Amino acid sequence: MEIFSLLSEPSLVAVAVTALCFVFALFSLFRSFSLPRRFTPPRKHHCDCASNSDSAAAAVPFLNGGGAQMLDPTPVPAPVPAPTAVLADRRTGSSMMEELVPEITTHALSYLDYPSLCRLSMTNSLMRKAANDDNAWKALYHKDFTLEQDSITPTNGWKAYYAATRAIVNINTEFFNIVRDKSLPAMSRFWLNADYVKCIHASGELFSGYNAVMQSWQLVFNWEQGLNFQVRDVRARVLTDMAWVSMKTYVDMDTGPFNVTNVFEFHNGRWYMVHHHSSVMNGEVDHQIVHG
Ligand SMILES: *[C@@H]1O[C@H](CO)[C@@H](O)[C@H](O)[C@H]1NC(C)=O
Repeated sequence: MEIFSLLSEPSLVAVAVTALCFVFALFSLFRSFSLPRRFTPPRKHHCDCASNSDSAAAAVPFLNGGGAQMLDPTPVPAPVPAPTAVLADRRTGSSMMEELVPEITTHALSYLDYPSLCRLSMTNSLMRKAANDDNAWKALYHKDFTLEQDSITPTNGWKAYYAATRAIVNINTEFFNIVRDKSLPAMSRFWLNADYVKCIHASGELFSGYNAVMQSWQLVFNWEQGLNFQVRDVRARVLTDMAWVSMKTYVDMDTGPFNVTNVFEFHNGRWYMVHHHSSVMNGEVDHQIVHG
């Protein structure tokens, strides 16, 4: 009874409301200091990575090392921040990602795909440093392309090597699209116009020199019915102005794969095919001879 009578007094109600306000204010102050800052990519920057669809990348061939600038305006792989920097940042209310030790950050970034890594690098300076870390790009290279080439040291770092490999893989894909489309004009632009280019078709025939190679493709496009095949196990090795790609093509999954090698050279700002070699087709005739 006594409590109710006390609460009914206007002065005490005012005190209670003031106390509530104070607690609420304290709580919001606490929140603003302890909660991680949200990831809000700066709108004013345009993320170059977002436009990196396969076709867009294929349209911009570049040298090993020249690719870093294509991906991000800050090509210098900065060192992962020292723990002291992380601690100092924590006091000012940093994100949870930034509070992780650099090794963990690098490991976490290795699970991201290429567009995500690019977008992350746009969020803030710390993430940009982490996303430009060469180990992250090496991990991404091994995830997207091959576990091979683990022991190499790319001259301009893994980020540039990733970009160069992506460019060559896209150009290699373009070659097979041209074959599927049976487009002789596209094929003639695709090859280097030089007397030393060579092409060995599945028939086993060798064609040497640009004109002979083009005539051979004309024959292939005239004779082959449906050129439907799948390309697997693409492995690219890229040096400054030369690249080669090995792969398997399956015309249908029952027959063994054709083992194919493509060689490219970089001239006047773009890659050209200079060599194509397909393993010999195992026709019906061969089988009859082999099996008696
Ligand atoms: C390609 O290589 C694989 C693996 O060595 C082999 O089994 C296959 O017969 C080869 N294909 C041709 C057409 O030579």
